[in-house]
Amino acid sequence: MSERERTFVMAKPDAVQRGLVGEIVSRLEERGLKLVGAKFIRMSQAQAEEHYAEHTDKPFFDDLTDFITSGPVVPMVWEGQDATRQVRGIIGDTDPAEAAPGTIRGDYALDLGRNVVHAADHEDPGANEREIDLYFDEEELVDYERIDETWLYE
Ligand code: CDP
Ligand code: MG
Repeated sequence: MSERERTFVMAKPDAVQRGLVGEIVSRLEERGLKLVGAKFIRMSQAQAEEHYAEHTDKPFFDDLTDFITSGPVVPMVWEGQDATRQVRGIIGDTDPAEAAPGTIRGDYALDLGRNVVHAADHEDPGANEREIDLYFDEEELVDYERIDETWLYE
């Protein structure tokens, strides 16, 4: 059985502007994932460059860092069984044009550069720790039990 783990998710500036933060939170909550940390911030240029360091050499890097710093974002940490892979499934393919209906990107976005939500890469084993550390101190993540946990897990 997969481990319960913590994964990093962020509502991007387009989600905030389009009033989709609640929808993103709802979908993760209703699936059974547990919110253990959240903030409302505007990212600095340095934070954006560090967050997207793996894409430094890509042609879309400058547009991406301009966009991600263009307005407030909502960084979050979600916990649950196999959370990283399950969140990637809920948000859908990177390109909303390819994302399946029923996924967040497949339901709320059309353009690759405006895909409303970020989540840590489940194929990069260091991604969660690196991204969580970039936005949260350990004491800002809260340990608690959801009242439905005994009904969510066998
Ligand atoms: O966000 P995700 O992990 O699904 O995709 P990524 O490959 O890590 O790319 C990071 C972000 O860069 C994407 O979410 C897109 O917003 C953006 N991007 C882009 O604008 N043009 C591309 N050709 C690829 C990615
Ligand atoms: Mg990525």
